Amino acid sequence: MKFSVAAARAPPLRRYNKTFTTSQERESRVLSRVCNIAEITFRNVEDGAMNKISVAEARKKAAIGQQVCVQAWVRTRRDSKGGFSFLELNDGSCLANVQVVADSALPNYESEVQKLGAGCSVTVEGEVKASQGQGQETEIAASRVVVHGWADPQEYPLQKKRHSFEKLREWAHLRPRTNTFGAVMRVRNCISRSIHDFFQEDGFLYVHTPIITSSDAEGAGEMFRVTTLNLEQLPKKDGKIDYAMDFFDRPTFLTVSGQLEAEIFACALGKVYTFGPTFRAENSNTSRHLAEFWMVEPEMAFYELPDNMDLAERFLKRIFRDALEQCPEDMAFFNEWVDKTTIETLERIIDSDFERLSYTDAIKILESSGEQFEFPVAWGHDLQSEHERYLTEKKFQKPVILYDYPRAIKAFYMRANDDGKTVRAMDVLVPKVGEIIGGSQREERLDVLESRMKEQHLDPAAYWWYLELRKYGTVPHAGFGLGLERAVQFVTGMANIRDVVPFPRTPGNAEF
Ligand code: 4AD
Ligand code: MG
Repeated sequence: MKFSVAAARAPPLRRYNKTFTTSQERESRVLSRVCNIAEITFRNVEDGAMNKISVAEARKKAAIGQQVCVQAWVRTRRDSKGGFSFLELNDGSCLANVQVVADSALPNYESEVQKLGAGCSVTVEGEVKASQGQGQETEIAASRVVVHGWADPQEYPLQKKRHSFEKLREWAHLRPRTNTFGAVMRVRNCISRSIHDFFQEDGFLYVHTPIITSSDAEGAGEMFRVTTLNLEQLPKKDGKIDYAMDFFDRPTFLTVSGQLEAEIFACALGKVYTFGPTFRAENSNTSRHLAEFWMVEPEMAFYELPDNMDLAERFLKRIFRDALEQCPEDMAFFNEWVDKTTIETLERIIDSDFERLSYTDAIKILESSGEQFEFPVAWGHDLQSEHERYLTEKKFQKPVILYDYPRAIKAFYMRANDDGKTVRAMDVLVPKVGEIIGGSQREERLDVLESRMKEQHLDPAAYWWYLELRKYGTVPHAGFGLGLERAVQFVTGMANIRDVVPFPRTPGNAEF
């Protein structure tokens, strides 16, 4: 049994927080998470005072009978012949709207309520009642409607008709108000929390690695430069740019990965993770690439490749399960409108083991598949998206962990195998998205690492501190990186990565 030093010292357990022991308590904790809200607690309000609640809360049966105040944006207005209007309000707290019944007796009924339309912002006060209509348990009988902001129906882009995701990208400042993007953002939030929960519960330490760096963690040269030099008038010395005049006295870049710095902390504190923005200046205009994306990178001392695979599999399953459990309404929406296989796919993955396959065996499978691939399959070449998809979608119909890749196509830090041809790399592939995780066991032998760097034309002197980790108390260690957007893409079934990030950064696009 493997213990952390903390566990082995085992002080008597003291709990400062009440833990949830009964199934009801657990249930209520889960339920409160479902809508991203704390449990409804109606404050003791003075007579006539209003309890401000979210749309998600107002939709719950528990709210019936309460005097409340809801602040939100109008989605639609419908006038009834009976002398009142229905307003559908949304405030982003959940996918569904709350229905408001606004009676013609309201003082501003004709002057304002009957002019409300999509996009207008309002405060509504009134009593929550059981709804007679279909599709909701509650509705609010308005005693007061205050209009904060109008949205001219001639100009407001988000009218009832459906817009393409491409079009909505041009309105990145308004698309969070659509059902799809609200749902994407709630699921993205849920996954982010799930990532922290998973690692924190497992004893990992969150390390904040730098965003500005002078080293290329992937050795691929796809970095954005950071400089305060005047590009119109560059300082020169011996005919070359004089970086001594730059802010950091050297060339610096936006990081492509926090891994190298995470390794420093893993080699002192055991299990750590970094989770932050990363940047790649690769000119890829695909549905899976962003120039700015978020990556979570765990790094573990005393882990070898199989340990790394076990962790990655457990981690992904946890994220998928949390999304299904905590965002049931949003997930049902994706399943209905975006991809009818979304929920079933996630459920199947949670319940089955990932396939583990060496790169060499994968090549054999692809070669004998009888498929017509656009890019030829050959040992030594990186797999193309079509190859990855064949393996996960057709051959195995589940996530596949490929390992032991050719050394020439993988980063310098991956541990060399004794065969002299491959390294202890692993990629986790999932249906539709392809590579969702990339990782490896790290080269912990100083001499081997130095020669690997030279082999890839990197200057060991530039990585001196990284090499010193191997010089002083080196340990086998491993880690991986999960692209947050690829994870959100996979969970939601959204086809394009640009539609699961608030403001996509891609070649030629940085408007918002
Ligand atoms: O495979 P990658 O390049 O691995 C690393 O950066 C390692 N340093 C990770 C580690 O071992 N600590 O990237 C890891 C993951 C990919 O599998 C993918 O999910 C995501 O990051 N990713 C991207 N996501 C969106 N746009 C891009 N341009 C991406 N490049 C990588
Ligand atoms: Mg990769």
